[in-house]
Amino acid sequence: MAEQLTDLSGRGLQDLRISVTDRCNFRCRYCMPVEVFGSNYAFLPHEEILSFEEVTRLAKVFVRSGVTKLRLTGGEPLLRKNLSVLVSQLAKLDGVTDIAMTTNGVLLPKYAQELKDAGLHRVTVSLDSLDPEVFASMNGVGAKPEKVIAGIKAALAVGLGVKINMVVQKGVNESQILPMAEAAREWGVPLRYIEYMDTGNETSWDLSQVVSAREILEKLEEQYTLVPAADQMITETALRWSYSDSSSEIGIIASVTRPFCRGCGRIRLSASGELYTCLFATKGHTIKTLLRDGGTDDQLAQDISQLWSQRNDRYSEERGESTREGKVEMSYIGG
Ligand code: GTP
Ligand code: 5AD
Ligand code: SF4
Ligand code: SF4
Repeated sequence: MAEQLTDLSGRGLQDLRISVTDRCNFRCRYCMPVEVFGSNYAFLPHEEILSFEEVTRLAKVFVRSGVTKLRLTGGEPLLRKNLSVLVSQLAKLDGVTDIAMTTNGVLLPKYAQELKDAGLHRVTVSLDSLDPEVFASMNGVGAKPEKVIAGIKAALAVGLGVKINMVVQKGVNESQILPMAEAAREWGVPLRYIEYMDTGNETSWDLSQVVSAREILEKLEEQYTLVPAADQMITETALRWSYSDSSSEIGIIASVTRPFCRGCGRIRLSASGELYTCLFATKGHTIKTLLRDGGTDDQLAQDISQLWSQRNDRYSEERGESTREGKVEMSYIGG
């Protein structure tokens, strides 16, 4: 039986989010604006990036420390070569109940089957708009929604669990709240609306660009009758509702107006081997040194235990209207 680590607020460590690359084939304005992450950006060099063996070894130690859920993230995780090899290594770890991946979906038609065969349980695909012009302006590379929809369909076809994430930005894609709900209902996939967050340092975030959970809900209620989910858990990011006339579900991830730090048991591992105890952290904890300098599994477990036991993060609850300087970039720790 794994031990359960708790932080200073009694929150258990449950969820490890593993970034496998800091690169992405999109340049979403709310994450990697092209003016900053364009051709001159210094991405991580190959030798800095953890190997699959190193990631698997760390994941195993995390599972020993109470983690049961793993999520692969990026940048765009499917840009990492042979990712399904890593999935198959992680799937063999005893004690892991859930292996998920957050992706922009474009490469899913190519990889869905091998990921499923390797043991991936589910994917969360980001799709912000069905309108080609709106979507192109948001993803920064002119990608068409059909590309992502093909990825969603490929994942469904091979039997992966699928959710859709939609970041809602005022004046940009609010018009898509209802059309996206309709499409997700048709596909039988849960859709989660995400309040635009002040992640990293490179976006032009301010509170006036946030469409609040309340506004999203009001829009949905113009069209549908929603019933709050009966099985809502404090550890979840999303507030959830089901439709009265369909088995589909919607969620709202309201980090700005209804923060969920109280139940946050998420830790993030960057592709270069740093641990972040909050999405909005300014500093990571380098575990790679111990990993590469002959540290034993016990020493790694001890290091993790010490880090988690001193954790006091609750950025979203403290945010107010201002934002912190020097935060880690979302594309670096995978959101
Ligand atoms: P499920 O396990 O399917 O519920 O996924 P998830 O919501 O944990 O992960 P996902 O990658 O789909 O994240 C959805 C959105 O929530 C993204 O925009 C994330 O950046 C955001 N998010 C995830 N975890 C946290 C968190 O701990 N804090 C904040 N503020 N946002 C988070
Ligand atoms: N605010 C809210 N969500 C964001 N994401 C990326 N940047 C932001 C932001 N600034 C979302 C992506 C993806 C997930 C990993 O995080 O759309 O669904
Ligand atoms: Fe890439 Fe996802 Fe960031 Fe968009 S939100 S730039 S798809 S990592
Ligand atoms: Fe967890 Fe930090 Fe997000 Fe709060 S802001 S839920 S502490 S990652």
